[in-house]
Amino acid sequence: MKTTIAEVSKHVGEEVTIGAWLANKRSSGKIAFLQLRDGTGFIQGVVVKAEVEEEIFQKAKSITQETSLYVTGVIQEDSRSPFGYEMQVRNLDVIHESVDYPITPKEHGTEFLMDNRHLWLRSRRQHAVMKVRNEIIRATYEFFNKEGFVKVDPPILTGSAPEGTSELFHTKYFEEDAYLSQSGQLYMEAAAMALGKVFSFGPTFRAEKSKTRRHLIEFWMIEPEMAFYEHEDSLKVQEEYVSHIVQSVLENCSLELERLGRDTSKLENIKAPFPRITYDEAVKFLQEKGFDDIEWGDDFGAPHETAIAESYDKPVFITHYPTSLKPFYMQPDPDREDVVLCADLIAPEGYGEIIGGSERLHDHDILSQRINEHDLDPEAYKWYLELRKYGSVPHSGFGLGLERTVAWISGVEHVRETIPFPRLLNRLYP
Ligand code: 4AD
Ligand code: MG
Repeated sequence: MKTTIAEVSKHVGEEVTIGAWLANKRSSGKIAFLQLRDGTGFIQGVVVKAEVEEEIFQKAKSITQETSLYVTGVIQEDSRSPFGYEMQVRNLDVIHESVDYPITPKEHGTEFLMDNRHLWLRSRRQHAVMKVRNEIIRATYEFFNKEGFVKVDPPILTGSAPEGTSELFHTKYFEEDAYLSQSGQLYMEAAAMALGKVFSFGPTFRAEKSKTRRHLIEFWMIEPEMAFYEHEDSLKVQEEYVSHIVQSVLENCSLELERLGRDTSKLENIKAPFPRITYDEAVKFLQEKGFDDIEWGDDFGAPHETAIAESYDKPVFITHYPTSLKPFYMQPDPDREDVVLCADLIAPEGYGEIIGGSERLHDHDILSQRINEHDLDPEAYKWYLELRKYGSVPHSGFGLGLERTVAWISGVEHVRETIPFPRLLNRLYP
């Protein structure tokens, strides 16, 4: 009977066949241990010389890394492996022999591994990260569906620049100029006026010449937008959402987190509510900590965010940034003209900002003035302004960067390992 590694627990004591690849192997004169993978998981196959035909044992000893095969044997419980099962192999049928697989069990440099990303994805560690990523996506749909949000897909080719004009990928749209989307937000605002509570999940692009462990050129963002939600209402959604994805990964990816060596005690208490500090308080805190390069009005860099996050064991919201540091669409604080009703959510353990969000300006004239102040083409934002002409309401939304969130929850240092094929400053291959 054909099955998969993920399903072997249903076949203890039975003989089954699995289509697999050889990830690694060890053998002696009498026994061979085959590390097998089939995409759904990893299992050890044990080939005992005395129990199989000589030809099978010789095959097991000579089989090369990443050769594909059908392997047949009896599933047994194995309390020593974290997976809990192994296979007593009876037969091996090679499908395709792999010769000179480049990624051997020895250490390789990062650039080499990135050049071989199409193969590196097969490794245990990369497999685990992709499973965590998948679980976060699954839990995202689960959360927003349960909360009554409607999934809406904003366009990728656009004529607008929500996050500033300096980081746009330009392209031709027949005779017109177009950009790859930096954020679906503006379109999601239109969608919220039609459907109430909406969320998107899609690729976004930043032509940003940053080469840090937190920056990708192409990354995926989850962008909820809610009509009649004010700043504080939005923070509640954010902390509930982030708690839900962390707890879902803990529940459904324990094997993967173990394989990644993640200290799960640091994730267990990630439950709403999250602490909040204002930008003003953050500046004061940093100055007291000895960061004399920071003055009111300056943006925070990675070391500043890390210093702030270190004071908490949960993600922390930094709220009410200066208007001058943020995009044109944010609602001013009614009590203070110089700050906006916004928040960045900073992950613990140095992973940096995972969410940026705000209440949106809903006054037509102030918004129009901001568009001018930011030197944006009023023609391109005509439709966006019209949302403030026909029954404008307070509304808020945010964007969660998927890869930074995967990095944090997996405990992976660099975002390049959190997306199947990273687009980095110097990398478009493979
Ligand atoms: O803070 P950002 O730029 O916010 C927006 O784009 C808003 N329009 C979202 C909204 O309100 N709907 O980006 C949001 C998040 C960041 O907090 C970060 O997690 C991630 O997107 N992000 C990046 N991730 C990887 N590489 C980059 N270059 C990123 N830039 C932003
Ligand atoms: Mg931001």
